[in-house]
Amino acid sequence: MLSRRCGRGGERLEAILLVGGQGTRLRPLTISTPKPLLPTAGVPLLEHQLTRARAAGVHRIVFATSYRAEMFADAFGDGSRLGLDITYVTEDEPLGTAGAIRNASAALTCGPDAGVLVLNGDILSGHDIAAQVAAHEKAEADITLHLTLVDDARRYGSVPTDEAGRVIAFVEKSANPPTNQINAGCYVFRRSAIDQIPSDRVVSAEYETFPELLAAKATIVGYVEAAYWLDVGTPAAFVQGSCDLVRGRMSSPAVPPTVDGRAVLLAGAEVASDAIVSDGATVGVGARVEAGATIESSVLFDEAVVEAGVRVSRSVIGKRARVCAGAMLDDAVIGDDAVVGPGNELRGGLRLWPGVELPATAVRFSADR
Ligand code: GDD
Ligand code: MG
Repeated sequence: MLSRRCGRGGERLEAILLVGGQGTRLRPLTISTPKPLLPTAGVPLLEHQLTRARAAGVHRIVFATSYRAEMFADAFGDGSRLGLDITYVTEDEPLGTAGAIRNASAALTCGPDAGVLVLNGDILSGHDIAAQVAAHEKAEADITLHLTLVDDARRYGSVPTDEAGRVIAFVEKSANPPTNQINAGCYVFRRSAIDQIPSDRVVSAEYETFPELLAAKATIVGYVEAAYWLDVGTPAAFVQGSCDLVRGRMSSPAVPPTVDGRAVLLAGAEVASDAIVSDGATVGVGARVEAGATIESSVLFDEAVVEAGVRVSRSVIGKRARVCAGAMLDDAVIGDDAVVGPGNELRGGLRLWPGVELPATAVRFSADR
Protein backbone atom coordinates (compact mmCIF):
# COMPACT_ATOMS: atom_id res chain seq x y z
CA MET A 1 0.00 0.00 0.00
CA LEU A 2 1.11 3.54 -0.70
CA SER A 3 1.66 5.35 2.55
CA ARG A 4 1.23 8.92 1.22
CA ARG A 5 -2.05 8.63 -0.62
CA CYS A 6 -4.16 11.67 0.10
CA GLY A 7 -7.84 11.71 -0.56
CA ARG A 8 -8.92 8.32 0.74
CA GLY A 9 -11.79 8.50 3.18
CA GLY A 10 -10.63 9.92 6.48
CA GLU A 11 -7.10 10.63 5.25
CA ARG A 12 -5.56 14.04 4.81
CA LEU A 13 -6.32 15.76 1.54
CA GLU A 14 -4.51 18.67 -0.06
CA ALA A 15 -6.13 21.25 -2.34
CA ILE A 16 -5.21 23.99 -4.78
CA LEU A 17 -7.51 26.99 -5.01
CA LEU A 18 -7.54 29.07 -8.20
CA VAL A 19 -8.05 32.71 -7.27
CA GLY A 20 -6.00 34.66 -9.80
CA GLY A 21 -8.79 35.92 -12.07
CA GLN A 22 -9.74 39.60 -12.33
CA GLY A 23 -13.52 39.25 -12.04
CA THR A 24 -14.11 41.85 -14.75
CA ARG A 25 -17.82 41.05 -15.17
CA LEU A 26 -18.36 42.02 -11.53
CA ARG A 27 -16.96 45.52 -11.84
CA PRO A 28 -17.16 47.94 -10.15
CA LEU A 29 -17.36 45.66 -7.07
CA THR A 30 -14.07 43.95 -7.99
CA ILE A 31 -12.11 47.19 -8.50
CA SER A 32 -11.11 47.25 -4.84
CA THR A 33 -11.74 43.61 -3.85
CA PRO A 34 -11.05 40.39 -5.77
CA LYS A 35 -14.25 38.47 -6.51
CA PRO A 36 -13.43 35.56 -4.13
CA LEU A 37 -13.22 38.05 -1.24
CA LEU A 38 -16.49 39.91 -1.85
CA PRO A 39 -18.63 39.79 1.29
CA THR A 40 -21.26 37.14 0.58
CA ALA A 41 -23.81 36.48 3.31
CA GLY A 42 -21.48 38.37 5.64
CA VAL A 43 -18.18 36.59 4.96
CA PRO A 44 -15.74 36.45 2.01
CA LEU A 45 -17.23 34.38 -0.83
CA LEU A 46 -14.36 31.91 -0.53
CA GLU A 47 -15.06 31.18 3.10
CA HIS A 48 -18.11 29.11 2.14
CA GLN A 49 -16.03 26.88 -0.10
CA LEU A 50 -13.15 26.68 2.38
CA THR A 51 -15.36 25.55 5.24
CA ARG A 52 -17.07 22.97 3.04
CA ALA A 53 -13.69 21.67 1.86
CA ARG A 54 -12.54 21.45 5.47
CA ALA A 55 -15.65 19.47 6.37
CA ALA A 56 -14.86 17.05 3.50
CA GLY A 57 -11.40 16.26 4.89
CA VAL A 58 -9.15 18.87 3.24
CA HIS A 59 -6.50 19.97 5.72
CA ARG A 60 -4.09 21.96 3.57
CA ILE A 61 -4.83 24.44 0.77
CA VAL A 62 -2.43 26.16 -1.60
CA PHE A 63 -3.88 29.43 -2.90
CA ALA A 64 -2.83 30.12 -6.50
CA THR A 65 -3.00 33.92 -6.53
CA SER A 66 -2.15 36.68 -8.97
CA TYR A 67 -4.52 39.70 -8.99
CA ARG A 68 -4.33 41.55 -5.62
CA ALA A 69 -2.57 38.56 -4.06
CA GLU A 70 -1.81 40.22 -0.72
CA MET A 71 -5.48 40.66 0.11
CA PHE A 72 -5.99 36.87 0.36
CA ALA A 73 -3.32 36.54 3.04
CA ASP A 74 -4.85 39.50 4.88
CA ALA A 75 -8.25 37.75 4.87
CA PHE A 76 -7.23 34.18 5.74
CA GLY A 77 -3.68 34.32 7.19
CA ASP A 78 -2.30 30.85 7.90
CA GLY A 79 -5.82 29.39 7.84
CA SER A 80 -5.86 28.37 11.49
CA ARG A 81 -9.10 30.32 12.11
CA LEU A 82 -10.80 27.82 9.76
CA GLY A 83 -8.85 24.78 10.93
CA LEU A 84 -6.82 24.79 7.70
CA ASP A 85 -3.17 25.10 6.81
CA ILE A 86 -3.11 27.73 4.02
CA THR A 87 -0.07 28.50 1.85
CA TYR A 88 0.11 31.24 -0.81
CA VAL A 89 1.83 30.95 -4.17
CA THR A 90 1.76 34.09 -6.33
CA GLU A 91 2.26 34.32 -10.09
CA ASP A 92 4.15 37.40 -11.33
CA GLU A 93 2.02 37.23 -14.48
CA PRO A 94 -1.19 35.14 -14.60
CA LEU A 95 -0.26 31.64 -15.80
CA GLY A 96 -3.74 30.51 -16.88
CA THR A 97 -5.76 27.91 -14.99
CA ALA A 98 -3.49 24.88 -15.59
CA GLY A 99 -0.30 26.97 -15.42
CA ALA A 100 -1.48 28.18 -12.00
CA ILE A 101 -2.17 24.60 -10.85
CA ARG A 102 1.30 23.49 -11.97
CA ASN A 103 2.94 26.49 -10.33
CA ALA A 104 1.09 26.01 -7.03
CA SER A 105 1.86 22.28 -6.97
CA ALA A 106 5.41 23.09 -5.86
CA ALA A 107 3.91 23.68 -2.41
CA LEU A 108 2.12 20.30 -2.20
CA THR A 109 3.53 17.64 0.10
CA CYS A 110 1.66 14.53 -1.10
CA GLY A 111 3.05 11.74 -3.30
CA PRO A 112 2.59 11.14 -7.07
CA ASP A 113 -0.51 8.92 -6.78
CA ALA A 114 -2.34 11.15 -4.33
CA GLY A 115 -5.58 12.85 -5.30
CA VAL A 116 -5.37 16.64 -5.12
CA LEU A 117 -8.57 18.67 -4.99
CA VAL A 118 -8.55 21.71 -7.32
CA LEU A 119 -11.20 24.39 -6.91
CA ASN A 120 -12.20 27.40 -8.99
CA GLY A 121 -12.47 30.24 -6.49
CA ASP A 122 -15.68 31.82 -7.75
CA ILE A 123 -18.15 28.99 -7.25
CA LEU A 124 -20.80 28.24 -4.67
CA SER A 125 -21.38 24.49 -4.73
CA GLY A 126 -23.30 22.26 -2.37
CA HIS A 127 -21.99 19.06 -3.94
CA ASP A 128 -20.49 16.25 -1.87
CA ILE A 129 -16.71 16.77 -2.20
CA ALA A 130 -15.91 13.59 -0.25
CA ALA A 131 -18.11 11.58 -2.65
CA GLN A 132 -16.27 13.11 -5.61
CA VAL A 133 -12.94 12.11 -4.09
CA ALA A 134 -14.26 8.60 -3.43
CA ALA A 135 -15.45 8.33 -7.06
CA HIS A 136 -11.96 9.39 -8.21
CA GLU A 137 -10.30 6.71 -6.10
CA LYS A 138 -12.76 4.04 -7.22
CA ALA A 139 -12.23 4.82 -10.92
CA GLU A 140 -8.45 5.09 -10.42
CA ALA A 141 -8.77 8.16 -12.60
CA ASP A 142 -6.17 10.69 -13.64
CA ILE A 143 -8.70 13.49 -13.26
CA THR A 144 -12.28 13.51 -11.92
CA LEU A 145 -14.44 16.51 -12.79
CA HIS A 146 -17.55 17.59 -10.94
CA LEU A 147 -20.20 18.00 -13.66
CA THR A 148 -23.60 19.61 -13.36
CA LEU A 149 -26.50 20.47 -15.66
CA VAL A 150 -27.38 24.02 -16.73
CA ASP A 151 -30.01 25.42 -19.10
CA ASP A 152 -27.49 27.20 -21.30
CA ALA A 153 -23.98 25.70 -21.54
CA ARG A 154 -22.46 28.32 -23.86
CA ARG A 155 -20.69 30.22 -21.05
CA TYR A 156 -19.14 27.07 -19.59
CA GLY A 157 -17.07 24.01 -20.44
CA SER A 158 -19.43 21.46 -22.01
CA VAL A 159 -18.42 17.94 -21.01
CA PRO A 160 -20.11 14.89 -22.58
CA THR A 161 -19.55 11.51 -20.89
CA ASP A 162 -20.12 7.90 -22.01
CA GLU A 163 -22.32 5.36 -20.22
CA ALA A 164 -19.43 4.41 -17.93
CA GLY A 165 -18.99 8.05 -16.86
CA ARG A 166 -15.78 8.60 -18.85
CA VAL A 167 -15.35 12.08 -20.27
CA ILE A 168 -15.30 11.92 -24.08
CA ALA A 169 -14.75 15.60 -24.94
CA PHE A 170 -14.16 18.97 -23.31
CA VAL A 171 -15.57 21.92 -25.27
CA GLU A 172 -14.96 25.26 -23.56
CA LYS A 173 -17.35 28.17 -24.24
CA SER A 174 -18.75 27.34 -27.64
CA ALA A 175 -21.79 28.57 -29.58
CA ASN A 176 -23.00 24.97 -30.00
CA PRO A 177 -22.12 23.02 -26.87
CA PRO A 178 -22.50 19.25 -27.36
CA THR A 179 -24.32 18.84 -24.03
CA ASN A 180 -25.77 20.93 -21.20
CA GLN A 181 -23.65 18.90 -18.78
CA ILE A 182 -20.90 21.30 -17.76
CA ASN A 183 -17.64 21.53 -15.89
CA ALA A 184 -18.59 22.81 -12.44
CA GLY A 185 -15.05 23.96 -11.58
CA CYS A 186 -14.04 21.38 -8.93
CA TYR A 187 -11.55 18.67 -9.89
CA VAL A 188 -9.58 15.86 -8.32
CA PHE A 189 -6.21 15.55 -10.08
CA ARG A 190 -3.82 12.67 -9.60
CA ARG A 191 -0.68 14.49 -8.47
CA SER A 192 1.34 12.95 -11.30
CA ALA A 193 -1.12 14.42 -13.86
CA ILE A 194 -0.36 17.89 -12.49
CA ASP A 195 3.37 17.18 -12.87
CA GLN A 196 2.84 16.70 -16.63
CA ILE A 197 1.57 20.27 -17.16
CA PRO A 198 4.31 22.50 -18.69
CA SER A 199 5.87 24.67 -15.99
CA ASP A 200 7.35 27.49 -18.04
CA ARG A 201 4.40 29.15 -19.78
CA VAL A 202 0.73 30.12 -19.67
CA VAL A 203 -1.48 27.00 -19.89
CA SER A 204 -5.28 26.76 -19.92
CA ALA A 205 -6.78 23.67 -18.31
CA GLU A 206 -9.95 24.09 -20.34
CA TYR A 207 -8.48 24.80 -23.80
CA GLU A 208 -5.29 22.74 -23.57
CA THR A 209 -4.81 20.32 -20.68
CA PHE A 210 -8.18 18.55 -20.69
CA PRO A 211 -8.42 18.15 -24.52
CA GLU A 212 -4.79 17.04 -24.76
CA LEU A 213 -5.08 14.49 -21.96
CA LEU A 214 -8.26 13.12 -23.57
CA ALA A 215 -6.45 12.77 -26.90
CA ALA A 216 -3.70 10.92 -25.04
CA LYS A 217 -6.33 8.50 -23.62
CA ALA A 218 -5.91 9.59 -20.02
CA THR A 219 -8.64 8.41 -17.64
CA ILE A 220 -10.82 11.46 -17.09
CA VAL A 221 -14.15 10.76 -15.44
CA GLY A 222 -17.20 12.80 -14.57
CA TYR A 223 -18.68 12.98 -11.09
CA VAL A 224 -22.23 14.12 -11.83
CA GLU A 225 -24.14 15.71 -8.98
CA ALA A 226 -26.95 18.20 -9.39
CA ALA A 227 -26.61 19.88 -5.99
CA TYR A 228 -26.92 23.65 -5.55
CA TRP A 229 -24.39 25.23 -7.91
CA LEU A 230 -23.71 28.81 -8.92
CA ASP A 231 -20.92 30.54 -10.84
CA VAL A 232 -20.72 33.90 -9.09
CA GLY A 233 -19.70 35.73 -12.26
CA THR A 234 -22.17 38.62 -12.56
CA PRO A 235 -23.75 41.08 -10.11
CA ALA A 236 -27.10 39.29 -10.44
CA ALA A 237 -25.49 35.92 -9.63
CA PHE A 238 -23.60 37.48 -6.73
CA VAL A 239 -26.80 38.83 -5.20
CA GLN A 240 -28.58 35.53 -5.78
CA GLY A 241 -25.75 33.52 -4.16
CA SER A 242 -25.61 35.75 -1.10
CA CYS A 243 -29.38 35.62 -0.60
CA ASP A 244 -29.53 31.84 -1.19
CA LEU A 245 -26.94 31.36 1.58
CA VAL A 246 -28.93 33.53 4.00
CA ARG A 247 -32.19 31.76 3.12
CA GLY A 248 -30.52 28.35 3.54
CA ARG A 249 -31.04 27.29 -0.08
CA MET A 250 -27.29 26.77 -0.19
CA SER A 251 -25.92 25.40 3.06
CA SER A 252 -22.59 26.62 4.40
CA PRO A 253 -21.07 26.38 7.87
CA ALA A 254 -19.74 29.93 7.40
CA VAL A 255 -23.10 31.75 7.29
CA PRO A 256 -23.51 33.94 10.41
CA PRO A 257 -26.69 33.64 12.49
CA THR A 258 -29.68 34.91 10.50
CA VAL A 259 -32.89 36.68 11.48
CA ASP A 260 -35.35 33.81 10.85
CA GLY A 261 -33.60 32.91 7.57
CA ARG A 262 -34.70 36.28 6.19
CA ALA A 263 -31.65 38.48 6.75
CA VAL A 264 -28.16 38.77 8.19
CA LEU A 265 -27.39 41.88 10.22
CA LEU A 266 -23.68 42.20 10.92
CA ALA A 267 -22.06 43.83 13.95
CA GLY A 268 -23.13 47.41 14.46
CA ALA A 269 -25.72 47.35 11.65
CA GLU A 270 -28.56 49.75 12.46
CA VAL A 271 -32.00 48.95 11.11
CA ALA A 272 -34.87 51.27 12.05
CA SER A 273 -37.71 49.51 13.82
CA ASP A 274 -40.16 50.13 10.97
CA ALA A 275 -37.70 49.31 8.16
CA ILE A 276 -38.04 45.94 6.37
CA VAL A 277 -35.00 43.79 5.58
CA SER A 278 -36.00 40.53 3.91
CA ASP A 279 -35.59 37.84 1.24
CA GLY A 280 -32.01 36.97 2.19
CA ALA A 281 -30.63 40.51 2.44
CA THR A 282 -27.38 41.25 4.29
CA VAL A 283 -26.71 44.53 6.11
CA GLY A 284 -22.95 45.04 6.56
CA VAL A 285 -20.90 46.07 9.58
CA GLY A 286 -21.93 49.54 10.73
CA ALA A 287 -24.36 49.97 7.82
CA ARG A 288 -27.60 51.90 8.39
CA VAL A 289 -31.15 51.38 7.14
CA GLU A 290 -33.34 54.33 8.09
CA ALA A 291 -37.03 54.59 8.96
CA GLY A 292 -39.51 53.05 6.55
CA ALA A 293 -36.87 51.78 4.11
CA THR A 294 -37.27 48.35 2.47
CA ILE A 295 -34.30 46.14 1.57
CA GLU A 296 -35.19 42.96 -0.34
CA SER A 297 -32.78 40.36 -1.78
CA SER A 298 -29.86 42.79 -1.60
CA VAL A 299 -26.37 43.14 -0.16
CA LEU A 300 -25.29 46.25 1.76
CA PHE A 301 -21.55 46.37 2.32
CA ASP A 302 -20.00 47.82 5.47
CA GLU A 303 -21.09 51.32 6.47
CA ALA A 304 -23.50 51.70 3.54
CA VAL A 305 -26.44 54.02 4.25
CA VAL A 306 -30.00 53.73 2.95
CA GLU A 307 -32.02 56.77 3.90
CA ALA A 308 -35.62 56.90 5.06
CA GLY A 309 -38.31 55.40 2.87
CA VAL A 310 -35.98 54.12 0.11
CA ARG A 311 -36.82 50.80 -1.57
CA VAL A 312 -33.84 48.61 -2.55
CA SER A 313 -34.42 45.32 -4.45
CA ARG A 314 -31.91 42.83 -5.92
CA SER A 315 -29.05 45.34 -5.62
CA VAL A 316 -25.59 45.76 -4.14
CA ILE A 317 -24.56 48.90 -2.25
CA GLY A 318 -20.80 49.32 -1.82
CA LYS A 319 -18.83 50.34 1.25
CA ARG A 320 -19.78 53.73 2.68
CA ALA A 321 -22.08 54.39 -0.29
CA ARG A 322 -25.32 56.30 0.35
CA VAL A 323 -28.76 56.11 -1.21
CA CYS A 324 -30.66 59.28 -0.39
CA ALA A 325 -34.31 59.59 0.56
CA GLY A 326 -36.56 59.67 -2.50
CA ALA A 327 -34.26 57.44 -4.60
CA MET A 328 -34.90 53.79 -5.44
CA LEU A 329 -32.82 50.82 -6.64
CA ASP A 330 -33.91 47.67 -8.46
CA ASP A 331 -31.20 45.41 -9.88
CA ALA A 332 -28.47 48.05 -9.53
CA VAL A 333 -24.86 48.08 -8.33
CA ILE A 334 -23.57 51.09 -6.39
CA GLY A 335 -19.77 51.31 -6.07
CA ASP A 336 -17.93 52.10 -2.84
CA ASP A 337 -18.35 55.70 -1.58
CA ALA A 338 -20.86 56.58 -4.33
CA VAL A 339 -23.93 58.69 -3.58
CA VAL A 340 -27.33 58.27 -5.21
CA GLY A 341 -28.99 61.64 -4.83
CA PRO A 342 -32.71 62.08 -4.10
CA GLY A 343 -35.13 61.18 -6.89
CA ASN A 344 -32.85 58.88 -8.86
CA GLU A 345 -34.44 55.63 -9.92
CA LEU A 346 -31.79 53.08 -10.90
CA ARG A 347 -32.77 49.74 -12.38
CA GLY A 348 -32.11 47.11 -15.02
CA GLY A 349 -28.49 46.26 -14.16
CA LEU A 350 -27.31 49.88 -13.94
CA ARG A 351 -23.87 50.23 -12.30
CA LEU A 352 -22.55 53.33 -10.56
CA TRP A 353 -18.73 53.56 -10.31
CA PRO A 354 -16.99 54.13 -6.94
CA GLY A 355 -17.09 57.68 -5.63
CA VAL A 356 -19.56 58.94 -8.25
CA GLU A 357 -22.18 61.32 -6.88
CA LEU A 358 -25.48 61.41 -8.75
CA PRO A 359 -27.10 64.78 -8.07
CA ALA A 360 -30.76 65.05 -7.17
CA THR A 361 -32.80 64.67 -10.30
CA ALA A 362 -35.60 66.98 -11.44
CA VAL A 363 -37.78 64.00 -12.36
CA ARG A 364 -38.54 62.44 -9.06
CA PHE A 365 -39.89 59.00 -8.44
CA SER A 366 -42.97 59.44 -6.36
CA ALA A 367 -45.37 56.82 -5.10
CA ASP A 368 -48.07 59.52 -4.82
CA ARG A 369 -48.42 60.25 -8.54
N1 GDD B 1 -3.99 31.75 -10.22
C1 GDD B 1 -4.70 31.95 -11.33
N2 GDD B 1 -4.04 32.34 -12.47
N3 GDD B 1 -6.03 31.75 -11.31
C2 GDD B 1 -6.72 31.96 -12.45
C3 GDD B 1 -6.11 32.38 -13.65
C4 GDD B 1 -4.68 32.58 -13.65
O1 GDD B 1 -4.06 32.93 -14.65
N4 GDD B 1 -7.08 32.49 -14.60
C5 GDD B 1 -8.25 32.17 -14.01
N5 GDD B 1 -8.04 31.86 -12.70
C6 GDD B 1 -9.04 31.42 -11.72
C7 GDD B 1 -10.21 32.38 -11.54
O2 GDD B 1 -9.94 33.26 -10.47
C8 GDD B 1 -11.34 31.42 -11.22
O3 GDD B 1 -11.38 31.11 -9.84
C9 GDD B 1 -10.98 30.15 -11.97
O4 GDD B 1 -9.58 30.23 -12.24
C10 GDD B 1 -11.75 30.00 -13.29
O5 GDD B 1 -11.54 31.14 -14.09
P1 GDD B 1 -12.77 32.00 -14.66
O6 GDD B 1 -12.16 33.14 -15.40
O7 GDD B 1 -13.73 32.30 -13.59
O8 GDD B 1 -13.36 30.99 -15.72
P2 GDD B 1 -14.87 30.86 -16.21
O9 GDD B 1 -15.84 31.07 -15.12
O10 GDD B 1 -15.03 31.70 -17.41
O11 GDD B 1 -14.92 29.32 -16.67
C11 GDD B 1 -14.44 28.30 -15.80
O12 GDD B 1 -15.39 27.96 -14.81
C12 GDD B 1 -16.63 27.39 -15.34
C13 GDD B 1 -17.51 27.06 -14.15
O13 GDD B 1 -17.83 28.21 -13.45
C14 GDD B 1 -14.10 27.07 -16.66
O14 GDD B 1 -13.41 26.14 -15.84
C15 GDD B 1 -15.36 26.45 -17.27
O15 GDD B 1 -15.02 25.23 -17.96
C16 GDD B 1 -16.36 26.13 -16.17
O16 GDD B 1 -17.56 25.62 -16.74
MG1 MG C 1 -15.78 31.81 -13.23
